[in-house]
Amino acid sequence: MPSPAEEVAELTARLKRWGAAYFEIDSPLVPDADYDAAMVQLRALEADYPDLQLPDSPTQRVGGAPLSAFETIAHRMPMLSLDNAFSEADLIEFHRRVIERLSVSEITYCCEPKLDGVAVSIVYEGGRLIQAATRGDGVSGEDITANVKTIRNVPLALSGDDIPPYLEVRGEIIIPRSGFEQMNARARSSGQKVFVNPRNAAAGSLRQLDSGVTAKRPLAFTAYAVGVVEGSLPASHDGTLRCLAQWGIPISEHMQTVTGIEACEVYYEELAAQRDGLPFDIDGIVFKVNSFEQQDRLGFISRAPRWAIARKFPAQEVSTQLLGVDFQVGRTGAITPVARLEPVFVAGVTVSNATLHNIDEIERLGVVIGDVVVVRRAGDVIPQIVSVVRDDTEHAVRVGAPIVFPSQCPACGAAVEREAGEAAIRCVGGVGCQAQLKGVVRHFASRKAMNIEGLGGKLIDQLVDEGLLQSVADLFRLTKESVGALDRMGDKSTENLLSSIAAARQTTLSKFIYALGIREVGEATARSLSEHFMSLDAILAAPVEALEDVDDVGPVVAQHIRAFAFDERNRAILNELHAAGISWPDVKLDAGDGPLAGTIWVVTGKLVAMSREEAESRLRALGAKTASSVSTKTTSVVAGPGAGSKRKRAESLAIPIIDETALIDVLEAHE
Ligand code: IVH
Repeated sequence: MPSPAEEVAELTARLKRWGAAYFEIDSPLVPDADYDAAMVQLRALEADYPDLQLPDSPTQRVGGAPLSAFETIAHRMPMLSLDNAFSEADLIEFHRRVIERLSVSEITYCCEPKLDGVAVSIVYEGGRLIQAATRGDGVSGEDITANVKTIRNVPLALSGDDIPPYLEVRGEIIIPRSGFEQMNARARSSGQKVFVNPRNAAAGSLRQLDSGVTAKRPLAFTAYAVGVVEGSLPASHDGTLRCLAQWGIPISEHMQTVTGIEACEVYYEELAAQRDGLPFDIDGIVFKVNSFEQQDRLGFISRAPRWAIARKFPAQEVSTQLLGVDFQVGRTGAITPVARLEPVFVAGVTVSNATLHNIDEIERLGVVIGDVVVVRRAGDVIPQIVSVVRDDTEHAVRVGAPIVFPSQCPACGAAVEREAGEAAIRCVGGVGCQAQLKGVVRHFASRKAMNIEGLGGKLIDQLVDEGLLQSVADLFRLTKESVGALDRMGDKSTENLLSSIAAARQTTLSKFIYALGIREVGEATARSLSEHFMSLDAILAAPVEALEDVDDVGPVVAQHIRAFAFDERNRAILNELHAAGISWPDVKLDAGDGPLAGTIWVVTGKLVAMSREEAESRLRALGAKTASSVSTKTTSVVAGPGAGSKRKRAESLAIPIIDETALIDVLEAHE
């Protein structure tokens, strides 16, 4: 039995690790329920043994009754804003002023992304978090200490050497894009209010009087400056931020120190190119004179420092007019309203369409045709309409017509239906609906599916419209004559198309399953199915319970697979595809020579030091086989936190189960 002190220490460490991973990697290590259960356990122990509570105990993150209002806190040092540069010329002008005032020939700048969130000040006294406040008007803000304590990447206690006795850290609180999408998807499906953008979601989450609500939001903090400090710090901005990082305070991994304004422009271009792929929204780059001594000499004008500037990116949100709504029918029959917009330039591209998701979303927005709407484009996300501009005087009179959902499929005229619990309205026409058929063929031919090069959307439309395709199986019946007769298809393109269709006959089981377009069966699920059952017939014959045994197959996906397998039209198409010569090699779990040859491993649950994929590939490199499900043939199971049914199955089959530390020992012993 561990002592209470050991248990407290272990639980504290575990919760801190889980909490940190929640942000560092995109997906949490364990389900929220596990985190909550460990938290309950730790709270109970701390209640029994208050002396054992550690200063940075995660139980201190949420506590206390909801507030009735936020207190006001005066900032000991005002929180300033930044001047903006909207062009390279503005930036060069800023640099010229800095050089001139300092009478130097070159300047070292620290470059950082300008995070689009909420500015906060967090005070540590004796290394403990004692206060957090919003920026407010810059002179005083609101006391949001209880809420900031719930943010899992904000340290409650600093660790390390030479921590100043009083340290005010300033930075931005944001919600990463993935967390934002999840939050909104959840809100959308339960009919709650969705947030317009991650910044509003972060602000709304911090404005909660009940910190229990804030604790459930995926907030994250990044420090970008210090405020009042009693004690000593390095003489430079970058040195200071690196110090903060050593004490456990998160700073931007994109921070970079450069000399000269050309290097700043290069940094700007580099980050601008990465902007869409970043996990969070940024609205520009901040350049700061790196030396504190030079910063002091430059000083401030009105509300902004002379030693820093924000070079802004093109806006991600702009307003435009909604000209009309088209209804698109997808490959599963789902009918999506698509907004036709007066073209606008958003975040670097011209946008003339945006998704309106579904009927619920249209109702939530209260939008009518003719309205001026705010369009947002961020990351790879399809442009969205986030709100309606109500007070636009130019368009104050709302002349628009309401958006009416079609009562018949706009493509084939078949009936439409709305399944219980679903937001989407679907055409019931199946592949008899040309729009659905086109979607099905597009998916079938796509790169990650059958990878039929040269078979693009336009050509598919032509083939379906000309009646050459009634199902994906017809692709393999196309001839030089039938394709050659199509508009704009010369000999060369016809030949290329036919040879890439022929080449696609040879595939893999998992790509083929994915290509079938079974609802909710994406690439990963297709791979799991193929590794688990190892044959198409086995998948199609599997009862729901057997399907649910597979990684990431739940009851809904299992039902979709059963429904697909039951459908006689699908069976007929599968037979035709088989007859057309579609084939794949037997599914083999990688075999090899090496010290672990002859062993079969299953890695399950979350790992901390490496990803599951990395663990598997390192095992395979040592000659082991890896599998996704536990069977009597399995020789070892690596179970990380969150391992569920596979661990149980291994236990019932008396297969050795080891944890990640033991796995690392095995890998390091052999590598
Ligand atoms: S420095 C005295 N650095 O931008 C300089 N600000 O327009 C204070 N912001 O209120 C700000 N990322 O909320 C700085 N890397 C960054 C930033 C940043 C975002 C925000 C901050 C501030 C606003 C000023």
